[in-house]
Amino acid sequence: MLKDSVVKALSDQVNTEYYSAYLYLAMSASADRMGFKGVANWLFVQAREETAHGTHLYQHLLGRGATPFFADIKAPETAYAGIREIFEKVLAHERHVTELINGIASLAVREDDHATYNFIMWYVNEQVEEEASAEEILTKIRFVGDKLDQLYILNTELGARVFTDPFAATAN
Ligand code: FEO
Repeated sequence: MLKDSVVKALSDQVNTEYYSAYLYLAMSASADRMGFKGVANWLFVQAREETAHGTHLYQHLLGRGATPFFADIKAPETAYAGIREIFEKVLAHERHVTELINGIASLAVREDDHATYNFIMWYVNEQVEEEASAEEILTKIRFVGDKLDQLYILNTELGARVFTDPFAATAN
């Protein structure tokens, strides 16, 4: 049985993951309006991944017999000056999420909750990838600068991303 502190922390993380999805949808819409359809695609796929992350946490709470808490999902920022600003904010957000996930891992240790610790390790590892991919794209954007032919290539590259359910082979 999950302790209340762990139920609260995991429920808060469900909210954060859904907020992340909402944030990336807002960024995707902004990129689309700028004409960067490929960037918009990458962010849309990212939003779908975040929804999957939140849903997996929710299902885990139910699977452990807990009642999740629900709260408002805050509205994301919708105005961005360009794709560089978008990815600076993606990276900053993912670093923030990493801190939250690490906090859950630390809580699980304090509460002697080995199952939650084991569960949240997937997210700890995922955050390493999340930060790395945001950093990689941001670095490319910085290198490319205003060179339109290079921006076209980067936009095409990001447009090739397809969604794959990260938990497709997982029962819970
Ligand atoms: Fe679910 Fe981007 O962290």
